[in-house]
Amino acid sequence: MALSRKRSHSPKLKDSAGGGYYLPGSNISDLKTSDLRIGDLRHSLLNWYHQSGRDLPWRHSRDPYAIWISEIMLQQTQVKTVIPYYERWLEWFPTVQDLAMADQQQVLKAWQGLGYYARARNLHLAAQELVKQYNGVFPEQLEVAISLPGIGRTTAGGILSAAFNQPTPILDGNVKRVLARLVALQVPPNRAIAHLWQLSESLLDPRQSRDFNQALMDLGATLCTPHSPDCPRCPWKLHCQAYNLGIQSQLPMTETRAPIPRKMIGVAVIWNSQGQILIDRRRQSGLLGGLWEFPGGKLEPGETVEDCIQREIREELGIEIQVGDRLITVEHTYSHFHVTLNVHHCRHISGEPQPIECDEVRWVTLVELEQYPFPKANVQIIEALKQKAEGVDGSGVEPLAGGAAPTPP
Ligand code: ADE
Repeated sequence: MALSRKRSHSPKLKDSAGGGYYLPGSNISDLKTSDLRIGDLRHSLLNWYHQSGRDLPWRHSRDPYAIWISEIMLQQTQVKTVIPYYERWLEWFPTVQDLAMADQQQVLKAWQGLGYYARARNLHLAAQELVKQYNGVFPEQLEVAISLPGIGRTTAGGILSAAFNQPTPILDGNVKRVLARLVALQVPPNRAIAHLWQLSESLLDPRQSRDFNQALMDLGATLCTPHSPDCPRCPWKLHCQAYNLGIQSQLPMTETRAPIPRKMIGVAVIWNSQGQILIDRRRQSGLLGGLWEFPGGKLEPGETVEDCIQREIREELGIEIQVGDRLITVEHTYSHFHVTLNVHHCRHISGEPQPIECDEVRWVTLVELEQYPFPKANVQIIEALKQKAEGVDGSGVEPLAGGAAPTPP
């Protein structure tokens, strides 16, 4: 699905009606770190980290593989969500060789629920490249690390500093916010990327890069938060220009975003006469690539859900179905759009399903569905199916087998 990511280009102070602040000494050309008493900044941040830093599982490891996994998971996901996934991942794939040899479906299953599945596909590809080209040894050179699928400059910086104590700076979303406040940056961070990288690099303590970068991340995650930052406890409060100007809550500046669109989707749970359900595997490229789903597609203007489902299934799978009762409506939000999934039970009428617009199709039982990696929104459909099956006679999932599927009209 194409993403709409239209933004207007009028930066504004966060939470302010229209900007108009005068921020002395804080425009881009003033991003000089010599003024910032780097020694003090390093010293106070490291002291604070040694007393108040978080105890996180990957910080006990020096294994670049484990650290790489944690950094990829943490790219778009909160620490508390990541921890159980990280621990289970290392049980399932303890080494880069285990990951390289795994089937993509296992890898996607281990990632199910974390979202942004390109991260899992890239981890798998990168593991295969590491084993093939580097004998399974994670590279210590920044340029080589960055050349691997899914590893950008900040991820590489995070991995190399944490694993090898290398002086490689980082600049993720939290760090951008911390630095933007430190210098009271007068433009949105994404318009000052080169300067913020310079600042991150100049501040980094070359002798304690591991702890310094971890400390910077903790500062952003625990005190220098997007809303209500806890400035009185901040080790950088003496140096922070935003705090000293009293504008910390209005920084960093943001771009005004266009509202995100909603897509209406018709989704089919297609039953055959053996009580099996038809699922398809999405193409590798694009959103949710490689995951399984219940087939369906976008409503056209003026189209009913029932007509949409019938048309989509004919176009995408080349079969005829009868559309029956509504099973569930699922609302879900992806990064750049909302979806409403209008899910209906359907009965297979004729034709052999063809993978016309997907990589594969399969008939599976309700019990077998559990083995396949599905997007979160589809997991809700499976839950609804299971509840319905249990509701039939209270004895589990079998009642839908043998052609006793819910009857379409
Ligand atoms: N976000 C990205 N990397 C992280 C790390 N190593 N610890 C905590 N949060 C992070």
